[in-house]
Amino acid sequence: MAYQNFNMEHHWLPFTPNRSFKKDPRVFVAADGMHFTTHDGRQVIDGISSLWCVGAGHNRKPINDAIKKQLDTLDYATAFQASNDQAFMAAEVIAGMAPGDLNKVLFCNSGSEAADTSLKVALAYHRARGEGHRNIFIGREKGYHGVGFGGMSVGGIPANRKVYGAALLPRVDHMRFIHDPVNHAYINGAEPVWQEDLLLELENRILPLHDPSNVAAIIVEPVAGSAGWYLPPKGYLKRLREICDKHGILLIFDEVITGFGRLGTGFGADYYGVAPDMLNFAKCVTNGVIPMGGVICSDRIYDGMMNANSAAPEHAIEFFHGYTYSGHPVACAAAIATLKLLKEEKLYERAGQMGKVLGDAMHSGLKGLPNVIGIRALGLAGAVELAPVAGAPGKRAYDVFMECFHQGVLVRPAADNIVVCPPYIVEKEHIDRIVNVVADAIRKHA
Ligand SMILES: Cc1ncc(COP(=O)(O)O)c(C=O)c1O
Repeated sequence: MAYQNFNMEHHWLPFTPNRSFKKDPRVFVAADGMHFTTHDGRQVIDGISSLWCVGAGHNRKPINDAIKKQLDTLDYATAFQASNDQAFMAAEVIAGMAPGDLNKVLFCNSGSEAADTSLKVALAYHRARGEGHRNIFIGREKGYHGVGFGGMSVGGIPANRKVYGAALLPRVDHMRFIHDPVNHAYINGAEPVWQEDLLLELENRILPLHDPSNVAAIIVEPVAGSAGWYLPPKGYLKRLREICDKHGILLIFDEVITGFGRLGTGFGADYYGVAPDMLNFAKCVTNGVIPMGGVICSDRIYDGMMNANSAAPEHAIEFFHGYTYSGHPVACAAAIATLKLLKEEKLYERAGQMGKVLGDAMHSGLKGLPNVIGIRALGLAGAVELAPVAGAPGKRAYDVFMECFHQGVLVRPAADNIVVCPPYIVEKEHIDRIVNVVADAIRKHA
């Protein structure tokens, strides 16, 4: 493919250092299976499922065909006061997969919208039951719940929050981060067993400080993805569930990354055997091809909202929330086709199997290299943590990421972690290549 010259004056890139990008652009023009083609005709392995989205690999015909068919049948229909057939079908499939009594799907278009939607449901639900004083949210340090004001407020990544100050939601607290770099720097497919009970802080300090009766919801990612793939201690999520139940607090799992197969199971909730009250999803649900997000709510929440309105007139709306593109028919058709494909090709199971290959390869290929201070692998994802360059946090991982890209492998820098989370169709030879390229880059930037 011929080199294409772009006018880069007008596209402001998200979460990207724009000035340096323009000096050394990374532009994809095609993708198939595990690979991209760049604007200058190079092949690059997608080592991160394009931001954790492309579970089934790129350019999958059943998904593309479903989208094309839907475009020619019903391109779009209003989402308010009417709906479309695909939305009901997609909701049925998603609810059918979800754990516990999570049966009611509120659609949106991204993980950020899912975060804000779930927080709003929590407030509305408590108010509907006469507990409107429950308006405190608890997140976790280094949590990522997108970039809306709600998600940012319960999120705990400092760089994403620091310039928004007083505009963040006021009644929010954060639990401690789930990482022990001394005893659990290296984890391969296991649940770290902590001597210390991390949730004592929640029970003994955070909840008494606010009084648990004022807390609406606790939101966590089952595995902290964007921070750099940090795994919860053994038993942590079960105990969190118990604490929430004890105090009538809703538990929200943000499964935008862990949902739809990344851990080798439908959801992280399945992997850990803990059902939340709400489960946020996005990304892999449509294989990343068309934007979609959503919140799967428990029957209890939905019924609570409906019952509270039982005396209201027939035309009264029960929940004043939604997006123009909630349940977009083309996105729903893409979701139905994606979830069918993931099932037919047993891709969740495959993610679990290849996850072991990835975890072993990362531990045997990267442990002991210069500046490597930790490796964490679970499901089909792993992170290698690098000692930061003094005075320049994030630089070492950025340099490694750039070097890998030049060698034909896309990985993801997250602080001083390099994260690898390939599509579930990945083969051992891709994993070996990814790990070898990361190893060489780490050595080069020692
Ligand atoms: C756990 C989690 N929640 C929310 C989001 C935000 O999703 P989006 O970028 O689609 O708004 C992400 C994105 O990576 C995520 O990992």
